[in-house]
Amino acid sequence: MKNTSKSPSARGGFGSKIGFVLAAAGSAVGLGNIWRFPYLAAKYGGGIFLLIYIIFAITFGFTLMLTEIAIGRRTGKSVIGAYKAVDKRFSFLGILAAVIPALILPYYCVIGGWVLKYMTVFVTGGGEEASKATFASASDPEAKLSFFAHFIGLLEQPTIFFIIFVLLTSVAVFFGVEKGIEKVSKLLMPVLLILIIGIAVYTLTLDGAGDGLKYYLLPDFNGFTASKFFKTIAAACGQLFYSMSIAMGIMVTYGSYMRKEDSLESSVRQIEVFDTLVAILAGLIIVPAVFVFSGGNKSAINAGPGLMFDTLPKVFADMPAGQFIGAAFFILVTLAALTSSISLMETVVAVVIEKFKLSRTVSCVIVIGITLVLGMLSVLGYSVCSDFTIFKKQMLDFFDYITNNLMMPVLALLTCILIGYVVKTKYVEEEVMLGEKRFRSKLLYSVMIKFICPACMIMILLTATKI
Ligand code: PHE
Repeated sequence: MKNTSKSPSARGGFGSKIGFVLAAAGSAVGLGNIWRFPYLAAKYGGGIFLLIYIIFAITFGFTLMLTEIAIGRRTGKSVIGAYKAVDKRFSFLGILAAVIPALILPYYCVIGGWVLKYMTVFVTGGGEEASKATFASASDPEAKLSFFAHFIGLLEQPTIFFIIFVLLTSVAVFFGVEKGIEKVSKLLMPVLLILIIGIAVYTLTLDGAGDGLKYYLLPDFNGFTASKFFKTIAAACGQLFYSMSIAMGIMVTYGSYMRKEDSLESSVRQIEVFDTLVAILAGLIIVPAVFVFSGGNKSAINAGPGLMFDTLPKVFADMPAGQFIGAAFFILVTLAALTSSISLMETVVAVVIEKFKLSRTVSCVIVIGITLVLGMLSVLGYSVCSDFTIFKKQMLDFFDYITNNLMMPVLALLTCILIGYVVKTKYVEEEVMLGEKRFRSKLLYSVMIKFICPACMIMILLTATKI
């Protein structure tokens, strides 16, 4: 078990610590923070959820993210090579870690395309249009479909926006780690932060925002039974896992490009703070805004998936300067989605480069091709082929389900076993010590990776499979 990695520079790498942190934060900050976190927080008792989430972030999230980045940096390889280098018997984990992003990337870009469409509509001044029910279905003239349902039901437009989103993603990946991903992250992440702070400050000045703020931040112990408590824990755990881009091979890949002299521990802490801050700020925008414009109707916030594409445009339509705020909001979401899909594409491209010894350009072209084909299945599933389902799920939901609920917890669980019991925590500790004098969270790390993280993973798996 020698620390045998080649210098990351042999295959390109981040030129600075801040470049690495912003790129990894770019991956972590995505649709999960902006759309999913706020409604989960509102649903699971406001302040209680926030508190549990923060505790999980600094323990569970920290451990899993540190582990993946350390594996990447120590081996200096793409996921397939990395897991093999840790322990040959666990090579299959590398394959799993390559298949997961290859399956997520296509449907993530389809959703990215939807967001891009909304951004275009708002930026070109059509926000009103997005807020109204605009389409009467042919079979039932009375049934009004929302703008969103109408849009995704078409074939042409979602396809075009999906293709544009894939191409935008590929630009950064084409240019490589330092000249592409690092540059783009250093530019986009500060813009994202400024936008989200700006919009949050604005929505909090709206009349009546205070009640929404209370609803979001104050713990609500009303009806908070033991069963709700466990559900809250499971929800916070699952959200954290997804939000930090854990078990998608991404952090291993980005870790393999990290400089040996930079501190692993403080980098992970910074990524965590960035990710959690954006999630909390997104809640500060969405919960009070929806609260004000739905007249305090709690079910409006719990609208789930429809929240961002159906409810929010209506909120922007009613808000003073809503057209402008709506445009800023959808630019923000587009940037967040873009930096996440870049990290997914890079993970897959790195595998193709290493495994098939191809150039970055050729590898990118291959990955774009596969993404377009697989992504079209998701586009078609929501339009002309909506009758076609697998296990009663549309294609997009099917890909989402098998990756998030099954493959990712399995990968994370086995990674914990690999590090906690097979190669032992020394494997990660030695890598952490390269960049600093001491490993401050060493005890926490070892307890988490051996006992608590595997238990959380089993809990997620059981909830997902509803056993
Ligand atoms: N971490 C992302 C989020 O919060 C999720 C994600 C990242 C999904 C990268 C895919 C790829 O939305």
